Amino acid sequence: MAAEIINGKELAQQLRTEMKDEVVSLKNDGIHPHLTVVLVGDNPASKSYVRGKEKACLETGISSDLIELPTTITEEELLNQIDQLNDDHSVHGILVQLPLPEHINEQKVIEAIRPEKDVDGFHPVSIGRMMTGMDTFLPCTPYGILTMLQSKDIEIEGKHAVIVGRSNIVGKPVGQLLLNNHATVTYCHSRTQNLKQYTNQADILIVAVGRANGIDASYIKEGAAVIDVGINRLKDGSLTGDVDFESVAQKASYLTPVPKGVGPMTITMLLKNTIKAAKGIEN
Ligand code: GUN
Repeated sequence: MAAEIINGKELAQQLRTEMKDEVVSLKNDGIHPHLTVVLVGDNPASKSYVRGKEKACLETGISSDLIELPTTITEEELLNQIDQLNDDHSVHGILVQLPLPEHINEQKVIEAIRPEKDVDGFHPVSIGRMMTGMDTFLPCTPYGILTMLQSKDIEIEGKHAVIVGRSNIVGKPVGQLLLNNHATVTYCHSRTQNLKQYTNQADILIVAVGRANGIDASYIKEGAAVIDVGINRLKDGSLTGDVDFESVAQKASYLTPVPKGVGPMTITMLLKNTIKAAKGIEN
């Protein structure tokens, strides 16, 4: 079997065009969606991600601003900055780019963001609401993955989804989202013994481990839908995923590429969450 490639870039573009119309209509009603991004320090990867987010906002008609703070900022100063943004009615969404410098407690910062403005979906209130199936901000990468599966009408209900990776921002929440959609979910991670025994049973396989091309066709069940969340930079500067694309494409029914896969969808779901924040979430 040759897999159908799920082009995240094209899907993202299509969704952004739809969102652009929604933003126009919100503006006509006097609502101007606005995202504030907070960047601490000068991590080049973070800077590049933040530029991508600003560009996507601009394209969609969402206004955004970037608050750049020095690495030397204290935790208290950062928390004060977040408080100001919490109280600013013109700011609908707040995103603090991670990672933060070591002297700052990341969890404390995430929890300082008012849940109504938590467009990353990282706040414990957002996570709790997601777990109980309430309306909330879904974390952007898992939300993007779900949207990609749904865009191809890939059946989730009753299927076995195997997640490789258990990070708070991808692995754990994507498993929860698939469970909410009635999949049977297995979590695997760095201490899982005999990983293949699990991945070989996956109808839907989500790989988010951060190791280049580690998952080849021998890990795949014939006809599986495979989502590659990895973004690894090789020595020659090129980007590659966690999945060995060439071999897996021969065995899977669907496969996401890297680049042009999950990455563009993550930013798109951030835009969607910002629009949702501007409209106000339901209780
Ligand atoms: N760093 C890497 N990915 C993310 C993300 O999705 N949100 C934030 N805030 N920081 C990140």
